[in-house]
Amino acid sequence: MSRRVEPIDSLDFFVTPPWATRALCEMLGAAGLITPGLGTVWEPAAGMGHMAAPLAEYFGEVWASDVHDYGVGLPTADFLIPGTGPRCPRRPDWVITNPPFRLGQAFVERAGQVAVEGCAMLVRTAFLEGVSRFQDLYRVRPPAFVWQFTERVPMHRGKLTATGSTATAYCWLVWVAGAEGTGFGWIPPCRKRLERASDYA
Ligand SMILES: C[S@@+](CC[C@H](N)C(=O)[O-])C[C@H]1O[C@@H](n2cnc3c(N)ncnc32)[C@H](O)[C@@H]1O
Repeated sequence: MSRRVEPIDSLDFFVTPPWATRALCEMLGAAGLITPGLGTVWEPAAGMGHMAAPLAEYFGEVWASDVHDYGVGLPTADFLIPGTGPRCPRRPDWVITNPPFRLGQAFVERAGQVAVEGCAMLVRTAFLEGVSRFQDLYRVRPPAFVWQFTERVPMHRGKLTATGSTATAYCWLVWVAGAEGTGFGWIPPCRKRLERASDYA
């Protein structure tokens, strides 16, 4: 298969505020799914690394890559086309990312093939809707958890900002190897506790 070459504005490069990734890691820890400081994770749509950095606070090893070179020294690889770039050196325990909206389902499927323990995808809550997504994804491969943010997670194209706002709701979808059924939970307000001034430096 050949590699897709896409214009940069079609890559859906929205930056995740680091506190939203810390919130996931705290939920994974509370659910007994990760042990802080241990395990490996691959962030395969890492952009400029704003999710990979907080992941390194919770995992023993982080591998990060992106299909586009944003100039921050990360390896370039198309997650959906194996062999188009450097690969994670070994199968990661987890794949965690914030996929481009229109490729979300493909990312979930590929992450399920790659990760040993599970994968987590930060998505717009609207990603839960859709008859074809239900038939092709949720019916055959339901997430183990839907964790809905109670606070808004401001995400902006191409930049991280401490003061932005958004009308879009987000949740984490978590798939765990061997799990059955879907549990729903709220992510309690945590931005104030998990946000650091250095995130925006
Ligand atoms: C929503 S952004 C997330 C960026 C980063 N995870 C963050 O939260 O700051 C989606 C990212 O997916 C990348 N991307 C799009 N298609 C991809 C593909 N096929 N393989 C790997 N990365 C891809 C884009 O370049 C973009 O950086």
